[in-house]
Amino acid sequence: MDYSKISLGNLFIVSLLFAGVLYICIWSPSRSNPLLPYQKPQRICPHTRLKTIKLPIDELELALEEAAMPNKTVIIAVVNRAYVEQSIKADTTMLDLFLESFWLGEGTRPLLDNLLIVAVDQTAYDRCLFKRLHCYRLLTDGVDFATEKVYMSQDFIKMMWRRTNLLLDVLKRGYSFIFTDTDVMWMRNPFMMLDKNETEDLQISVDEYNGDPRSQKNLINTGFYFIRSNNRTIDLFSKWYGMKDNSTGMKEQDVLLELMRKGIFKQLGMRVKFLDTQYFSGFCQDSKNIWSVTTVHSNCCRHIDAKVSDLKFVLRDWKRFTALKAKYPTMGRNKTMTYRWSPHNACKNSWKQEHNTSN
Ligand SMILES: *[C@@H]1O[C@H](CO)[C@@H](O)[C@H](O)[C@H]1NC(C)=O
Ligand SMILES: *[C@@H]1O[C@H](CO)[C@@H](O)[C@H](O)[C@H]1NC(C)=O
Ligand SMILES: *[C@@H]1O[C@H](CO)[C@@H](O)[C@H](O)[C@H]1NC(C)=O
Ligand SMILES: *[C@@H]1O[C@H](CO)[C@@H](O)[C@H](O)[C@H]1NC(C)=O
Ligand SMILES: *[C@@H]1O[C@H](CO)[C@@H](O)[C@H](O)[C@H]1NC(C)=O
Repeated sequence: MDYSKISLGNLFIVSLLFAGVLYICIWSPSRSNPLLPYQKPQRICPHTRLKTIKLPIDELELALEEAAMPNKTVIIAVVNRAYVEQSIKADTTMLDLFLESFWLGEGTRPLLDNLLIVAVDQTAYDRCLFKRLHCYRLLTDGVDFATEKVYMSQDFIKMMWRRTNLLLDVLKRGYSFIFTDTDVMWMRNPFMMLDKNETEDLQISVDEYNGDPRSQKNLINTGFYFIRSNNRTIDLFSKWYGMKDNSTGMKEQDVLLELMRKGIFKQLGMRVKFLDTQYFSGFCQDSKNIWSVTTVHSNCCRHIDAKVSDLKFVLRDWKRFTALKAKYPTMGRNKTMTYRWSPHNACKNSWKQEHNTSN
């Protein structure tokens, strides 16, 4: 979206309203009472009328308002240049694969309306606007987030913390959200699989699922989670972000993990659910059931090229599955279908060679 245009548009509408109110104030008396054309307009026009006009507070609020569902729920993904720009040899980008999954997935297309892309550099922002998505430009002093950050480099960590701070801001504004990395493919509508009970504060994906949705021994992955906005979750994110300068060399995910190990969820009285990899799957632990898989994350993978390469296979696997389903409509959910995901070879190999990129 072009926010300058929208702001101007809003200004225009507000001006019109204002003009309309003035018109009514000034002219109504003369119409209703032609003998008193110069009656004081202020007294006839109640002051409260003007107060009800709500101006957008800032660009983030505007972006959230545009993207959110009526129940103030939004989907947030953060991108930088490395996720939107093709290298010379590549034929796609991470963002394109991510968007493609919304097209291919079951019931995921309408969710694009609720996706807010947070761009940390100008290229990512331009690309987002070009794709006609909901875009928000996150500015940070003194850091150029344009290149793919070396995993655990100073800038990488700085970017992570800036992101956490933004998400805290979103919670404070009363928006609940799904945070998703763009290397998560959305094969089905996750809202269908998430717990709708409002007492669930946080539902977070894991690298490996130990079978117990309440066990804090699960290894969390902050690449996909659903969090509700309330005092407890705001507290959590404040505490988390508060560790920024006290966690040298640690990734924010590891900081959250440590907070969890120290019992922060209990301390804040939070209800947290760990998501089963059967539904919220990833390369660390593939879902064994393509009938129920909801998201596929290219976790346990080191480089963006490897992720892109292996995620292309995921989408191909999915297309093959849906084609099969279309061809054999009676093919039952309970038939043990010999359906295997393609191996994630590029990701497996990504740990071997040295390469100047991120996780
Ligand atoms: C918000 O509304 C959407 C669409 O009706 C629904 O799928 C989702 O579960 C709701 N979110 C919350 C947090 O209730
Ligand atoms: C939500 O969870 C709470 C706590 O487990 C439970 O008491 C309540 O009945 C649940 N509500 C619904 C609608 O399932
Ligand atoms: C959060 O706390 C404030 C003050 O303690 C309270 O007024 C408000 O209702 C609480 N909000 C929620 C969502 O619990
Ligand atoms: C910061 O780290 C030190 C040393 O690990 C610890 O003693 C202190 O409690 C930490 N501060 C906070 C706010 O967690
Ligand atoms: C599973 O398949 C068997 C045989 O194909 C059928 O009799 C049974 O009703 C199916 N069960 C379910 C839950 O669909």
